[in-house]
Amino acid sequence: MSIDPSVFGGERVVLAPSILAADFTRLAEAVSLAEEAGADLVHVDVMDGCFVPNVTVGPPVVRALKRVTSLPLDVHLMVADPDGTVEWYLDAGADIVTVHVEASTHLHRTLGAVKEAGASAGVTLNPATPVHSLRDAVGYADLVLVMSVNPGFGGQRFIPRSVERVREIAELCADEGAAPVIQVDGGIDVATAPLVVEAGARVLVAGNAVFGDGDPAAALAAIRQAGESAL
Ligand code: DX5
Ligand code: ZN
Repeated sequence: MSIDPSVFGGERVVLAPSILAADFTRLAEAVSLAEEAGADLVHVDVMDGCFVPNVTVGPPVVRALKRVTSLPLDVHLMVADPDGTVEWYLDAGADIVTVHVEASTHLHRTLGAVKEAGASAGVTLNPATPVHSLRDAVGYADLVLVMSVNPGFGGQRFIPRSVERVREIAELCADEGAAPVIQVDGGIDVATAPLVVEAGARVLVAGNAVFGDGDPAAALAAIRQAGESAL
């Protein structure tokens, strides 16, 4: 189902820890840890070994996570054929489904199908995909995800140009009279969070900076504080 609009409302930073950096043998624990630590969403990275050079999880894991958390599931599809497979993730309980503009042939139809199913529709783009490629899609999206690393792996270094891209996308949305929430994914930590929030992002994905740390709750709180300092 779609997420409560109050999650994205107002001047706050929404935190979406990525379970890609968690221990895959103990996902339920990672998710409840994130929940107790005040996470707003659970970011699930789906990789198919085709669109990106890595394979992670699919619908059965989304369905299993749904059983162990009340947090909305934010499913990032890094797959070659999202148009043909979004239904699987909607059926499995995804609350947000985000597809790559580079992979979707029928983006308008696919975003519509996600919304029709009652979920929130996200669109995303790789670091070197021109920002203007989203111009005709932002009006149909609830969320725009700016990739700040090349998708496929956690723990990569934030690409500095991403800050400007967030700003450009915020301007493009305003030009189009659209107001999707802007999310950033890749290399987010206490240093990069304020940069992207200042540029207009309100949803931050963080994998390694949360689960790579000995204390995920403290890490999450520090990222929130750093991000909100730029509001
Ligand atoms: C990368 C994934 C990210 C990844 C982020 O392809 O989309 O969600 O988990 O991990 P960090 O925060 O470690 O860069
Ligand atoms: Zn992701």
